[in-house]
Amino acid sequence: MSKQKLQLGIIGAGRIGRVHAETLAFRLPEAQTVAITDVSQDAVQAVASRCGISRIAESALEIIADPQIEAVLICSPTPTHADLIVEAALAGKHIFCEKPIAHSLGQIDRALAAVEAAGVQLQIGFNRRFDANFARVRKAVAGGEIGVPSLMHIISRDPAPPPLSYIRTSGGIFADMTIHDFDMARFLIGDEVEEIYTAGGVMVDPEIGRAGDLDTALVVLRFRNGVIGTIDNSRRAAYGYDQRVEILGSKGKIATENCYPNQAIVSTGDAVYTDLPLNFFMERYTESFAAELRSFVNAVLEHLPTEVNGIDGRIPVQMALAARKSYDEHRPVRLEEITA
Ligand SMILES: NC(=O)c1ccc[n+]([C@@H]2O[C@H](COP(=O)([O-])OP(=O)(O)OC[C@H]3O[C@@H](n4cnc5c(N)ncnc54)[C@H](O)[C@@H]3O)[C@@H](O)[C@H]2O)c1
Repeated sequence: MSKQKLQLGIIGAGRIGRVHAETLAFRLPEAQTVAITDVSQDAVQAVASRCGISRIAESALEIIADPQIEAVLICSPTPTHADLIVEAALAGKHIFCEKPIAHSLGQIDRALAAVEAAGVQLQIGFNRRFDANFARVRKAVAGGEIGVPSLMHIISRDPAPPPLSYIRTSGGIFADMTIHDFDMARFLIGDEVEEIYTAGGVMVDPEIGRAGDLDTALVVLRFRNGVIGTIDNSRRAAYGYDQRVEILGSKGKIATENCYPNQAIVSTGDAVYTDLPLNFFMERYTESFAAELRSFVNAVLEHLPTEVNGIDGRIPVQMALAARKSYDEHRPVRLEEITA
């Protein structure tokens, strides 16, 4: 018996909205995009015509009110997420929301309460859990392949900073960029962080500092189970997107390398070299973006719990707030100090 296709609406047709619209159009036969909206006509028209989406809605609320739409993808800027989650939940829609849910725990709790009251499904866009490299690391830790873990290192460097206009609404490096690494840390170790210490600076672009943000940070994590971790972030890596992990355990270690567009190695009398790694998230994480949406669609169609739920969305924001507080106050911060 063939399953019914899940009917979706997309809110936001920017960088990530386009990635998800393409996945739904070209890779996910179990789902259909009924309508898409964006405050920018140019952005929405480009994505709608590329992905064959026949209806452009006037607003997010029109998408949410549409009785044909069963689930919404929230891909608009972060400050819009919490209100849209509340509206969508009130309308009984299942929700896939990009990270982070919001910049404060109060807003997140309001959104999660609405989801709970409505009994709808919510998945947060922590796509890296669905990446083959990181899934293999989790499997090794969970299965005891490397014994009892003691040290974890996450290296996560962007090729270049986003535009200042994006930085200004992003909530800062910890809420926008490190948030993926906070999620990775919890996911890979399978335990919660209780204390965070941050050293940070502005070493890439002074304009980022003038916007009140940092562009370089080293975050030390202390887990409840004793594991010590580091997250190494930079908004600039001259050689491209640098996404690696290493975990040391009592029986050995597991490490992942960057992903490359090809496996070729050039050897000459002067040097041995390869091409640069895949340049940024849209190329590096393409498969994980498709896998996370497949998982969401399957969870809704099969009435299963989503693989990244509201609490998984809340805790990394708490970690981001702790990381910033640690930087501001030059001291380790316990997560329990962050309550709002
Ligand atoms: N999971 C990931 O790896 C990943 C990657 C990039 C961005 N994101 C997240 O996705 C969100 C969007 O980021 P982006 O990089 O696509 O930004 P973007 O600026 O490229 O796109 C956002 C789009 O939303 C539109 N928009 C603004 N307000 C709107 C509204 N009220 N209704 C409908 N559309 C509206 C804008 O016109 C723009 O086209 C952010 O929360 C960001 O943190 C996640």
